[in-house]
Amino acid sequence: MKHIFQEGKDKTKPTLLLLHGTGGTESDLLPLAPHIDETASILSVRGNVSENGMPRFFRRLAEGVFDIEDLIFRTKELHEFLDEAAKKYSFDRNNIVAIGYSNGANIAGSLLFHYKDALKGAILHHPMVPRRDIELPDQTSTPVFIAAGKNDPICPAQETVDLQNLLQDANADVEVHWENHGHMLTGTEVAAAAEWYKKHF
Ligand code: MLT
Repeated sequence: MKHIFQEGKDKTKPTLLLLHGTGGTESDLLPLAPHIDETASILSVRGNVSENGMPRFFRRLAEGVFDIEDLIFRTKELHEFLDEAAKKYSFDRNNIVAIGYSNGANIAGSLLFHYKDALKGAILHHPMVPRRDIELPDQTSTPVFIAAGKNDPICPAQETVDLQNLLQDANADVEVHWENHGHMLTGTEVAAAAEWYKKHF
């Protein structure tokens, strides 16, 4: 997968996996990483799907309606890419914290829904429930931070509540931060994510 890897000063820190929103690239979330951890390594990935030229991490049939077959295929593809990248860049595969926005948060959520040890933790900005028809793997001791908009037109508040419940039912340690700025990724939610990260890593 097309990506950027930047080795951090402190190799004991988690590697931050950056996952952009629809129409973004692997450059988009780079400025965010130092707010979370300025000494961590960064792996920023571009989604392999193109929707009218806009990169995404999996296909959708309509706004908010996901192509589940493609979601499963692309989640596996990303999962395998993480294994390869860890070998190639010599970082700890078991110490990856995802930071995703919108479609990138959805594929990060999908990693948690499909694989037990895919992520050490996750910061999900404006995620949706990736799919509703499976039992999640056990996520005991996986901390998850969700930033959501009470008035998000793309991701209704109930979607966030459902995602929190599904992850908690799988024993993940979930914290939800609410905002009132629609689907926007705001500075205040990044600051809240940074506080959460300090507590857990
Ligand atoms: C998705 O398709 O993943 C969500 O609707 C969010 C987005 O527009 O990227």
